[in-house]
Amino acid sequence: MNPASDSEAIVIAVSKGRIFKDAMPLLARVGVRPTDDPEVSRKLILDTTDPGVKLVVVRASDVPTYVEYGAADVGIAGKDVLLEYDGDGYYEPLDLGIARCRLMVAGPAADCMPPNRLRVATKYAGITRRWFAEKGVQVEVIKLYGSMELAPLVGLADRIVDLVDTGNTLKANGLRPLEHICDVSSRLIVNKAALKTKHLRITALVRQLAASVGASSPWGGA
Ligand code: ATP
Ligand code: PRP
Repeated sequence: MNPASDSEAIVIAVSKGRIFKDAMPLLARVGVRPTDDPEVSRKLILDTTDPGVKLVVVRASDVPTYVEYGAADVGIAGKDVLLEYDGDGYYEPLDLGIARCRLMVAGPAADCMPPNRLRVATKYAGITRRWFAEKGVQVEVIKLYGSMELAPLVGLADRIVDLVDTGNTLKANGLRPLEHICDVSSRLIVNKAALKTKHLRITALVRQLAASVGASSPWGGA
């Protein structure tokens, strides 16, 4: 069954790991606690203590896809993922303020003369192309799926574009932050059609979550 076709339940897409860990206390404050731990269970659709809410556990970068296509009504995704996502079939009513970090250009701590055409390794190919194009800098973007910090160490790239929080990963690999592209935190996103068909339940959820993170109510009301 497509979980989002259940007119009774709101389906929330969330990724395992960091976002799940940070989002669960927020959802718990509005009465939504998963009945299984996704780090332990192999289940991908989780019931919660609210019979009207289910969670689907997906890859972080897949959250906007599930929400845009209506396979989930609501999702929790990093702003980095949303900026990289090629589509806008969802609303983004709320900054949850969790999983905060920065998207940065980084390079070797020891300065060396960069070549005419920089090679930049990243999993954020779209953001990286736009960032350097706006500055009029010619780059070759090398798409990676993780461990970006390795690329300059082994001569694969001159720069990386990656997330930085404490800066420990950069430091441990002899790199330093060079340019700040944007601040990142996790956002609540909502499928456009679901906002109409499940209007009362979704707006209530968004308002409760807004109150629980101390944000003003995005769609009016108390
Ligand atoms: P995918 O499985 O799609 O490749 P991922 O492995 O990047 O995703 P996580 O590492 O759990 O998934 O990161 C999920 C989100 O958490 C990121 O999109 C970002 O918004 C945020 N994030 C990532 N790294 C950090 C960090 N070091 N500190 C704070 N937030 C972070
Ligand atoms: C993220 C990111 C950096 C690191 C930055 O990786 O890709 O490598 O965190 O955090 P720091 O500045 O506090 O060191 P993550 O831990 O998610 O591992 P990943 O390679 O699996 O994405």
